[in-house]
Amino acid sequence: MSETTRGTVPAGGPAGGDPYLELRGVTVKHADRTVVSGIDLALRPGEFVALLGPSGCGKSSLLHVLAGLAPVAGGALRHRGDEATDGLRGRVRVGYVFQDHRLLPWRTVGQNIEIAMKAAGVPAAEWDERIERFLGMLRVGEYRGSWPMRLSGGQRQRVSIARALAVEPDVVLMDEPFSGLDEVTGRAMRQELTRLHEVASVPTLFVTHSIREALFLADRVVILSHGPARVLKTLDVPLARPRRHEDPALARLEAETVADVLREWDLTEGPAS
Ligand SMILES: Nc1ncnc2c1ncn2[C@@H]1O[C@H](COP(=O)(O)OP(=O)(O)O)[C@@H](O)[C@H]1O
Ligand SMILES: [Mg+2]
Repeated sequence: MSETTRGTVPAGGPAGGDPYLELRGVTVKHADRTVVSGIDLALRPGEFVALLGPSGCGKSSLLHVLAGLAPVAGGALRHRGDEATDGLRGRVRVGYVFQDHRLLPWRTVGQNIEIAMKAAGVPAAEWDERIERFLGMLRVGEYRGSWPMRLSGGQRQRVSIARALAVEPDVVLMDEPFSGLDEVTGRAMRQELTRLHEVASVPTLFVTHSIREALFLADRVVILSHGPARVLKTLDVPLARPRRHEDPALARLEAETVADVLREWDLTEGPAS
């Protein structure tokens, strides 16, 4: 593994060795409009980081750039110390859960997962077992032969997560995967995701606008401003694992963080707010 010798560690927290992924002054534009402005951030090996920001601040745009689905307009990306400004795709296996889940409607659930594994270079001999395993893990095994249209929103989200994990990714990028779910399903899904993360320890960037979700899931929460997004502050989440939704410490931390985050978001709205 290469040595990182630069003096500063982006986005708070002590250094824990080489970052898995490092963003330095990353700027994203749509045409001439800046939607993400100079983000510094480090994702360490095995770490779960939540990117918390208001709707429209540029979270999805940033995730696209990290994956290599859109170009960086300024700044640099590094992967384990190596220059990777064109994104992670093609360098490592990226498990990407899109905000709109993007299942192909003319393919069955199982075929959707096959397509992702084929693109990721997973040997065909392993497809069957992986489809069974990951659909089973996400408790949607019985829908393998179903059309995505026939599933509920929550089931489709589970399938899209199974698809992302079935490539056995080196890094996971998740874009508000649970935001459309009811409270009970959302809780069950978050619990499952933390279990999976504890087992596999894959570095994960998880985009959300929910403070409670960020605190429940993440080792660290990076709070973004209103668009164009920049980093306002980073919080280390002090809650022990495994975490429980009912934990009074989570509720207390949420109350403190809500006050803090709302103040930051109000301030970044400028004098008009
Ligand atoms: N393909 C696009 N072309 C032009 N503008 C876009 C495009 N995608 C998103 N935007 C704009 O960029 C800003 C950030 O969008 P987005 O990254 O989706 O934010 P978030 O995910 O935080 O809600 C928004 O103002 C949105 O309207
Ligand atoms: Mg988004």
